[in-house]
Amino acid sequence: PAKQRLLVVANRLPVSATRKGEDSWHLEMSVGGLVTALLGVKEYDARWIGWAGVNVPDDVGQRALTKALAEKRCIPVFLDEEIVHQYYNGYCNNILWPLFHYLGLPQEDRLATTRSFQSQFDAYKKANQMFADVVNQHYEEGDVVWCHDYHLMFLPKCLKEYNSEMKVGWFLHTPFPSSEIHRTLPSRSELLRSVIAADLVGFHTYDYARHFVSACTRILGLEGTPEGVEDQGKLTRVAAFPLGIDSERFIRAIDLPPVQEHMKELKQRFAGRKVMLGVDRLDMIKGIPQKILAFEKFLEENPQWRDKVVLLQIAVPTRTDVPEYQKLTSQVHEIVGRINGRFGTLTAVPIHHLVFGSLHLKRFFFTSVCVDVALVTSLRDGMNLVSYEFVACQASKKGVLILSEFAGAAQSLGAGAILVNPWNITDVAASIKYALDMPADEREKRHQHNFKHVTTHTSQEWAATFVSELNDTIVEAQLRT
Ligand code: G6P
Repeated sequence: PAKQRLLVVANRLPVSATRKGEDSWHLEMSVGGLVTALLGVKEYDARWIGWAGVNVPDDVGQRALTKALAEKRCIPVFLDEEIVHQYYNGYCNNILWPLFHYLGLPQEDRLATTRSFQSQFDAYKKANQMFADVVNQHYEEGDVVWCHDYHLMFLPKCLKEYNSEMKVGWFLHTPFPSSEIHRTLPSRSELLRSVIAADLVGFHTYDYARHFVSACTRILGLEGTPEGVEDQGKLTRVAAFPLGIDSERFIRAIDLPPVQEHMKELKQRFAGRKVMLGVDRLDMIKGIPQKILAFEKFLEENPQWRDKVVLLQIAVPTRTDVPEYQKLTSQVHEIVGRINGRFGTLTAVPIHHLVFGSLHLKRFFFTSVCVDVALVTSLRDGMNLVSYEFVACQASKKGVLILSEFAGAAQSLGAGAILVNPWNITDVAASIKYALDMPADEREKRHQHNFKHVTTHTSQEWAATFVSELNDTIVEAQLRT
């Protein structure tokens, strides 16, 4: 029998497109978690629908890009500059993103955001409707439609309005905050109502799912059940599906010549020093300034370590049109400069701050194979797969993971990692010392623990579980009526 078709809808397509000429495009597959997760799901015939990340105002360009993308099983949604500004930069990344991560806006931006709220929310709905239109054009009876992330909270409702028979799932890749936080959103009810139009709603952790259900009970007055949310007899199933990585791919890559080569280089370059690693998108939620301040405190308190340790902080710029992100970039540069000035010598500095485009992230992987300690200190993070990727390549080095208790990953890697409160730099500084001094047998034990988890909870399994649960949910709903 033919495989069931799966339409994966996400704001960003898994390929990035660069224009080479009037009708020619260069496409590069991205290596993100979602892409590999779905490549691994062999029982479905998957297609992607999303924004290619570029503005294509002309028909010729749009047609050429659509054709090029089709070869990668991708279908573009074209968003013009104004929509991108209001929907993506504005509502998604200046309003929902900070709110879902419990980060307030700076005082000076708060009123401006309040004033532009309505027009940005309108653009958000409009953009979601544009995604729905494209899904609807490509939908065939029996397809499963899987919507992703905070960009597309309106999509389930738009899709069900087109066709109430459509099988619709929605998964959130960020935290879902306490209902007390969600309550402050002017569009709180509309968003919740649209999401629960889906048949299945998924989160990384049980806590996020619980927050979502209580938002629905407190704000919408609906009934929360162990299964999900009930509205006049109609059940929306709500559950936790923690994402993982394609660990095999990482493990296999360790033996490749370029990786071995890079490791050799790194060993020579930092001979006699322990290497600590941080890899983050340049985002407020990642707690990069806090991490660097904790490292400074560690150096301050442990003079014996000053010329024996280096922090490689790899940053990937993102959402650079949003002012908050621009401020963060200069703040990080400033702090790094000050600390390097304070502790650097003629021959060495304690912090190497490297800025990479996401396409060069392979370098992170090359590096992580041989570092002693990884520092993941997100202030909030839906899951954080960097921590998983680090664990996957520690089979020989047994590097130590220092992990924020506010990352979803802390719930699965907590036993092997050293958990920290990233706001408490005294605590983080002490953990750095503990990690650097850790005896081999403890490193081994902690590593084994996490390695087992990472290799048995893969992204492929995650995707397969979500889709089969979605199919089951629909069968159960039919049995009930
Ligand atoms: C987070 C979000 C994703 C998003 C990614 C990169 O992981 O959950 O939906 O794609 O960040 O951000 P960007 O805005 O560049 O797509």
